[in-house]
Amino acid sequence: MFEYDPKKSICTCARVTYGDVAEAVEQGAKTVADLREKTRATAFCGSCTDRVAAFLTAVQAGEAKAMAMAEEPVSENEIVAPGFRQVCEDIYYVGASDRAADRFEKQYPVPRGMSFNSYLLLDRQTVLFDTVDQSVREVFLRNLETLLGQRKLDFLVIHHMEPDHAATIAEVLRRWPKCQAICTPGAKKMLSQFFGPQLAKRAQEIRDGVSMLTGKHVLSFHNAPMVHWPEVMVTYDRTSETLFSADAFGTFGALDGNLFADQVNLGDWMDDYRRYYTNIVGKYGGPVQQLLQKASGLSIKRICPLHGPIWRQDLGIILDKYQKWSTYTPEEKGVVIAYASIYGNTELACQALAGVLSDKGVRDVKLMDLSREHPSYVIAEAFRRSHLVLASVTYNGGLFPDMEHFIHQMVHHGLKGRTVALLENGSWAPVAARKMDELLTGTGNHVMGKKITLLSTLKQSQLRELDELADAIVSSMQ
Ligand code: FEO
Repeated sequence: MFEYDPKKSICTCARVTYGDVAEAVEQGAKTVADLREKTRATAFCGSCTDRVAAFLTAVQAGEAKAMAMAEEPVSENEIVAPGFRQVCEDIYYVGASDRAADRFEKQYPVPRGMSFNSYLLLDRQTVLFDTVDQSVREVFLRNLETLLGQRKLDFLVIHHMEPDHAATIAEVLRRWPKCQAICTPGAKKMLSQFFGPQLAKRAQEIRDGVSMLTGKHVLSFHNAPMVHWPEVMVTYDRTSETLFSADAFGTFGALDGNLFADQVNLGDWMDDYRRYYTNIVGKYGGPVQQLLQKASGLSIKRICPLHGPIWRQDLGIILDKYQKWSTYTPEEKGVVIAYASIYGNTELACQALAGVLSDKGVRDVKLMDLSREHPSYVIAEAFRRSHLVLASVTYNGGLFPDMEHFIHQMVHHGLKGRTVALLENGSWAPVAARKMDELLTGTGNHVMGKKITLLSTLKQSQLRELDELADAIVSSMQ
């Protein structure tokens, strides 16, 4: 005799229990196909088919008996706190944060974690805006199911197909078989690439500027190519004056209960906003400018990004930052001195230069060791300031690898418009300055003519050179 727990799941995808199947058999189901029809068990991934068939056989043979339950078990909904939050009338946050994440995109450190935002509109028709990363899928699905209750999901708007938002699309479309996806033609192509052509058939391509009525809300869809991938679009809800902005206006960092940017201490967040922008979207300043241009024609009360807090007050703060970052305009007149130093002699020269710059009135000087700092932090600081000093030892007849890597990162992230001074070191044949100059050629940055060459260490006799370089930097700030 097979004793089963009637509350236990037999088909996870369709959330069907052993008890549901036994009841369906009692009501006349005779085959697995009948059970699929009545309960949706086996209808999705199909991995439970053998289990369902075996249980069906046992029930039909009278060899299955429901366990006596000592007491009513606690349901999942009673033990799991809901993670959804109300954003405004009809719109809910259903995303989640991953605090265990070490790196975003496998490369960017996220010591404060990462949020993956998704939003649900409960109008006459229901609309989900994006899904989430695999890491937070269970919390997201529970949020969504809890909020929807008995309602079905009518539409899934896909703004961006990068898997940190798209990984859960297939699961959402499986759970709500009537749900229609809406996306750009580029996103539909990627849907097929990621999930196969069958699933892509569930998507309706939408043209730039098209509107849709969901009841009392009017949504319009606007292409935003290369913010951050080519298939990206954003949605504007005219009724609530909300912009669902995809990756734009997002940040690294988990949400700690404060859902809105006006509820957090922005001083704690702005470095992550900058590091996120400059490293994720930094290269695409032109496309970001186009998006800002489109947004300027809309009346926006609220910006709902795919990462980080929602903006509903003082939107000018983030719009001003985006204006500067996307035009490669420094936020401050200041200097980042980024150095690659093996035994500390190049670093000492950099410290001396930093002191001279400070003495000459430069308030904002930052020393960064490229062998210790992750390049994403240095890129962000270099976007922030007007000037950059690159100082490297010569290594194997070329550049020290950490410096070479950093300059490649500068190129990758499109940093331009900076004034760059070079300092090199070498004990017998210094070539680092020439190598750095070569790598910077054509990047849109201005390399100052004056360079400093150290032979092993900075000499007393070179302090004048250091002073002249500092003067040249200060005068180029005027
Ligand atoms: Fe947050 Fe481009 O994905």
